[in-house]
Formats: sequence, C-alpha cells, structure tokens
Amino acid sequence: MKEEKPKYGWYVRDLIISFIIIGLIGLITLIFGLYLHGILRIILICIGVVLMFLFLWPGVGMTALNLTIGDTLYLDKSMEALYKTESLQILDVGCGTGRTAVKIAKILQNGGHLTGIDIYEKKAIAGNSLYTVQKNARIEEVEDRTTFQYGTAIDIPFDNGKFDIVNFSSVLHELHMENGPEKALDEANRVLKPGGYLYVSEWNRNSLLTIIFIGIFCFVFKPYKYWRKLIEKHGFQELSYQRFGGFGIFSAIKNK
Ligand SMILES: C[S@@+](CC[C@H](N)C(=O)[O-])C[C@H]1O[C@@H](n2cnc3c(N)ncnc32)[C@H](O)[C@@H]1O
Repeated sequence: MKEEKPKYGWYVRDLIISFIIIGLIGLITLIFGLYLHGILRIILICIGVVLMFLFLWPGVGMTALNLTIGDTLYLDKSMEALYKTESLQILDVGCGTGRTAVKIAKILQNGGHLTGIDIYEKKAIAGNSLYTVQKNARIEEVEDRTTFQYGTAIDIPFDNGKFDIVNFSSVLHELHMENGPEKALDEANRVLKPGGYLYVSEWNRNSLLTIIFIGIFCFVFKPYKYWRKLIEKHGFQELSYQRFGGFGIFSAIKNK
C-alpha cells in the first residue's frame, strides 16, 4: 500500500503564480522592445524591466523559499527541553496546515497537548483547512496529543491562564485588521499562565536575505525591532532572539 504523506501546502501559492505570470509578461515585453526602434523601444524596455523587477523577482524568490523552507519551526536546545516538560499545554495560533504545530507535537512528551487555532485562509497556504491539519496530524501520528479548531488570534476562544506556551509562527504580520498584532498579543497574554512563554516567528524586513527573496515586497514585513517593542509593550520580557536567515524567533516570558 502507498504510504500517505502529509501535505503542508505552498505559502501564498496563488500570489506566486500571478506574480510569475505578470513577470513573464514583463520579460516578453522587454524582448519585444529590443526588436523595435525609437521611443517605442525605450517605453517597452522600461515597462518590461519594471514588471520584472516588481513581480518576477519576488515570484521566483518566493518559489525558492517554498522549495527550501522545510519546517518553519527552528528550535534551540532550551526550547526543545521546554517542550519535554510534563503535561505542557501549548497553543499554536494560526496553525494553518500544521507545518509548525505538528513539529512541536512530535517533541511533546509526558502528557503534553497542543491546541491549534486558525481561520484557515486559502490565500495564505494552498489547501489550508481544518480537514488538512487534522489529516496531517493523523499521518504524522500526533493525533492523540493535538486538537485543532476554528478560532481567531484577536479573540482566542479559551479561558484565562490555560496555556504554558503560546506560539505565533509567521502569523502576526497577517493580522491586517486595526491593531491586529496588538490584540493578538493581549490575547496571548490573557490565555497564558503566569510565567508562561510566548514564541513569535517573523520575517525581518531589514535582512538582506528577506530582500533577496521577496524583493520590493519586503516592505510588507516589519523590522525585528518593531516586534521586540510590541512584545515588551504587551506584558512580556524577551528571553532571546534567534536569527535564521531573513527569519527570526523571539522567545519571551509573561510578566508576573
Ligand atoms: C503564513 S501562514 C503560517 C501558518 C503556520 N503557522 C505555519 O507555520 O506554517 C499564516 C496563517 O495565519 C492564519 N491567520 C490569518 N489571520 C488569522 C486570524 N485572524 N486568526 C487566526 N489565524 C489567522 C492564516 O489562515 C494562515 O494559516
């Protein structure tokens, strides 16, 4: 029998396809322009170059990212040790198809449990759904220590002080409603136990690698110092910041 494999899906697949199509139109326009003369030649070459710069670059960069991304959760030894603590309750906010959540669940031991919530936006990840994440957890054999459900980051559907860890992997920048990241951090603070841990993974706009991969659209992301300030403003003390290329993870502890 054929072994079933988990499907974590490409990030922003439809956006990548649109970018590559527009970028290729730019390339054709450029080539066409090279065969012409006079002002039309200059206009077509300029349009071609601009379209390629704006769209082909990030389209190819994001394709490369998806092909190389692997697991989005990077752990250092202290985080890994924490996940092995007895009966740990973890909340993964914006779990998507479970790429990070399943990886955490695999390390969990001694009665620990991971709960994942998401609004399962299709444009964020191809195949994003509650069904997909539950199926991935079953295939990866972590069904017994995971629960997934619908829920929004800005109004987390759990009681105060329920979790030991709250994790946001590449989610805060997606909260485009008014004060979205602020509300989400307040909610994380509310559902964490006193002394609970917060993990925030985000792209850093000021990293050269982010610019190489995403081109002009690196401006969608904030510099890491922005997240540092926000995390501290919302009742956490930073413990560490680890960089992984253009990506970085904050670990922080809830203030007493
Ligand atoms: C870039 S994906 C990251 C998914 C996952 N954390 C991972 O590491 O692969 C962002 C996720 O945030 C989710 N999301 C967007 N807005 C949300 C909200 N208001 N509440 C909860 N999740 C949200 C999207 O549906 C998507 O699954």
